[in-house]
Parts: sequence; structure tokens; C-alpha cells
Amino acid sequence: MKTSIVASIQALRARLAIVRGAGGLVGLVPTMGALHAGHTSLVDRARGDCDCVVVSIFVNPLQFDREDDLHRYPRPLQADVDLCAEHGVDLVFAPDVADMYPAPPDCSIDVGRLADHLCGSHRPGHFRGVATVVMKLFQIAEADRAYFGEKDAQQLAIIRRIVRDFNVAVEIVGMPTVRESDGLALSSRNQQLTSAERGLATALYAALREAESQIRSGVSDIETIRQAAAARVPSHPTLRLEYLEVVDPDDMQPVRAVVGPVRVAGALWVGSTRLIDNLLCSPLSEIA
Ligand code: PAJ
Repeated sequence: MKTSIVASIQALRARLAIVRGAGGLVGLVPTMGALHAGHTSLVDRARGDCDCVVVSIFVNPLQFDREDDLHRYPRPLQADVDLCAEHGVDLVFAPDVADMYPAPPDCSIDVGRLADHLCGSHRPGHFRGVATVVMKLFQIAEADRAYFGEKDAQQLAIIRRIVRDFNVAVEIVGMPTVRESDGLALSSRNQQLTSAERGLATALYAALREAESQIRSGVSDIETIRQAAAARVPSHPTLRLEYLEVVDPDDMQPVRAVVGPVRVAGALWVGSTRLIDNLLCSPLSEIA
């Protein structure tokens, strides 16, 4: 089937009603566009699992805590549609802001303690915005499965919780982080880096790998792990480590000591671009 662009909620509902009427499984891949191989890994998995693959492309104003970040966010719609076509996407749902938010919403999702740390504590309102738009997309597409990346592990944990707490009839599929050969996690924001910044950006992955190696070698003290990891970020006027935390992989709360699998997550400012990444780490005794 040829890839179609659908701009309105009503048109998407009509198209998906036909698919569901014929007994087809619908897979949803929510994105904000500027698609890369991280996004297409989700699409490829959905293509393998489902009869109809919908990619939503919507730069959601509700989840931006800085006006300049919202305006600077890349929007290469035609290139995105072409990439979707290459990967066999059936429908690209690209609504405009007025369609998704005809008026500022009065109701939104209060995420609770899962948003207390990591990005939640540094980007006020961010996860409220994410949770609200993802819930809207779930209501609009009524997909059987929805695909999200572990690159945004706190977001994925929150979405899993929303589905459980609100009994949404969708199966969430989490997919591993796709990286460049030097370890930098693919991100739409990488496009904003100058070549000098791109060179420095690998410091975040280096810090996470240091934490991983500390944890594997049996270090359980959080401060020791954090300091060793942070030391991998060179002192450079362009770099600022916003946070590096060791949290429980399910509820995203900081752990007191490493006694089992943990998620080490960090945010690094590289010039005016903010990058995030994380790794799931286990002490060697747990892996064996
Ligand atoms: P966006 O940043 O475009 O990401 C869309 C999806 O792609 C998310 O599930 C994200 O985790 C996944 N993704 C991004 N980079 C990845 C990588 N390197 N490897 C694997 N998966 C990756 O996340 C959002 O948009 C928005 O918050 C959204 C959920 C669409 C709500 O607006």
C-alpha cells in the first residue's frame, strides 16, 4: 500500500475504521518528526507486527518548557514522509496544532511521582504535556500496539503507567536505543550540533558507560558511581552535565545503593542543545 498523509483526526479515524473492520491490527508510532534510524527501528518493528502502521508526526507545544526550543525544533515534513514510504508506513498522521488543540486543553494528565526526577525535575510540565498528547493519540488511533524507544526511558515508564492506570487497550512495545558508531544516541536534536559540538557530544555516552562499568565491577555506592561517571565529561565551556542519576527502572525513583538492575540516566547540554541518554545496568552477579 502507498503511504498516505492524513492531516485531520476525522480522516484518520475513518481510515482506521476500515482497517479494523477488516480485522486488521493497527500499530502506532508516535513521533515529533525529523525522523532518523531510531524512529525507523520502531517503524520496522511495527511493520513486522501489524497490518496497518501509522506514524504520527506532531511537534507537541504542550511538552516544550522553552519557547526557543519549540521554534528551533526541526520540521522536515517531506523528508519524513519519504522515509516513512521507504519503510512501508501506511499512514502518516500529521495534524496541525489547531486540529489537536482547538482550544488550550482544560484537562491534562498529572503524571505523579514518575515525573519527580530526571527530566521531570528539570523540565517543568514536560511530562504532563507528553502524557496528555500520547493519551490523545491513543484515543484518536485506538491502536492495538504502540511503539516507543528506551532512549526516552522515563517517558516509556510513564506511558506504561498511563496505560495501566487508565486501562487503555493498547500494548506498549519498548525498543532499544539506536546509536551512532561512536555511541551517541540518535536524536532529532543532534542536527542542531555544530561539528565541534558533535565531537564533544559523545561525553554523555562515555559517562553512562563509566557508570555501567563501575556497577558491573560491583560498586554499589551511588555517589562513587556518579562521580566516576561525571569525571568522563571534560571541563569545557560548551558542556554542562544537567543531571546524572541512578534510578529504579520501573518507578524512576533514585536508588540508595545498587542491589539489582538500575537505570543510569543523564542529560548533557552541548552548547544550546540538550541531549539525554540512559543505560540499563546490572551488577555482574545479577547478569550471571
Ligand atoms: P520523538 O523524540 O520524535 O521520539 C519518537 C519516538 O522515537 C520515541 O518513542 C523515542 O523514544 C524514539 N526514539 C528517539 N530516538 C531514538 C533512538 N535513538 N533509538 C530508539 N528510539 C528512539 O518522544 C517523542 O518524540 C515525543 O515525546 C512523543 C512521544 C511523540 C510525544 O509527543
